[in-house]
Amino acid sequence: MTKNTREIFVTGGAGFIGSAFIRLLLDETADCKVTNFDALTYAGNLDNLEGLDAARHRFVHGNIADAEAVHTALGENTHAIVNFAAESHVDRSIANAAEFLRTNITGTQVLLDAVRARGVKRFIQVSTDEVMGSLPENEDAFFTEESPFAPNSPYAASKAAAEHLVRAAHHTFGLDTVVTRCGNNYGPRQFPEKFLPLAISNALKDESIPVYGDGGNVRDWIYVDDHCRAILLALEKGRPGAVYNVGARNEHHNIDVVGSLLNTLGKPRSLIRFVKDRPGHDRRYAIDPLLIECELGWRPRETWETGLQKTIQWYQQNSRWLERTRSGAYKDYYRKQYGTEVAAT
Ligand code: NAD
Ligand code: TYD
Repeated sequence: MTKNTREIFVTGGAGFIGSAFIRLLLDETADCKVTNFDALTYAGNLDNLEGLDAARHRFVHGNIADAEAVHTALGENTHAIVNFAAESHVDRSIANAAEFLRTNITGTQVLLDAVRARGVKRFIQVSTDEVMGSLPENEDAFFTEESPFAPNSPYAASKAAAEHLVRAAHHTFGLDTVVTRCGNNYGPRQFPEKFLPLAISNALKDESIPVYGDGGNVRDWIYVDDHCRAILLALEKGRPGAVYNVGARNEHHNIDVVGSLLNTLGKPRSLIRFVKDRPGHDRRYAIDPLLIECELGWRPRETWETGLQKTIQWYQQNSRWLERTRSGAYKDYYRKQYGTEVAAT
């Protein structure tokens, strides 16, 4: 490491996407080291950091809504903050929004204040397509960077509020900020409350797979490393103040996602269990990624087939990871959300 080594402060780096980003950053850049600042909520998992080079990765346990903790952890010459830390699950936000407001809104403002106070050069906000609400079905409509905000869940509303704060910090104080808005990620190490890892882990145990409503909702799926490559490009080359939509042009109905999964695993369709719909369930997300493709030259590397295959294989080969995440508080969450017990491990 030289005196030119860039210090990158990653928040939420013990979670699904943050940990994948840190792996990619350390693999693909030689001049960066990382401070990984994470509160280790139920979704944060130190197992996700296994194998990272200790000389280039420092873990700090802390909450982004705690200004003192953030200031203490920030190095003297932090080059950039990349903000992944969030409460991220729509169903939990419907059950109780309080932590979503504290982490996703207050936490983001605390980080922006720190950027300003400490002269951090760049701030990347990892946002979501959900800030733009729901698209009509069967229409040639896509989210662009100009689509109006129309968040429909407390989660989406808190992420929209965070984006407004980032925009205001750029406009008022001239902070160098970039926002990325991505669709539904899938891949290794995703907490099994989210649809795909929940479906995979249930199928592997011959346990029923809960599908909300009629299963006709559409999501635009992207392999996690492709999302992380987009964030890395935004960090390195993004235009100050820009927003980039990130998507792999990969829309699928939920019921077809489960169908592909069951086919690949050789499991019967009788495992599908239609359950009561999510209140306010967004019908369709679909992203137009033209801006990031043209401006930053981003392209996804995985197809749906290769990404799904890799993902399923990872969960098959990492049963210990899955068993640990499905123990403890997860069992209470599952019982409350689905009215049944999670299968014994
Ligand atoms: P995740 O729930 O797997 O991980 C979140 C991480 O943030 C965990 O490690 C958790 O411990 C940490 N965290 C939570 N509150 C914190 C706080 N107050 N202070 C510090 N750390 C805290 O989430 P994810 O799926 O990896 O998502 C990461 C980011 O990407 C989020 O901002 C999310 O809104 C955004 N995003 C996710 C998706 C997706 O499909 N998962 C899509 C688009 C955008
Ligand atoms: P999810 O992974 O929660 O992501 P998001 O709500 O942010 O898109 O859900 C993806 C889709 O799968 C969404 O349409 C809701 C649906 N879903 C189910 O049908 N059953 C489930 O048990 C879960 C968690 C989600």
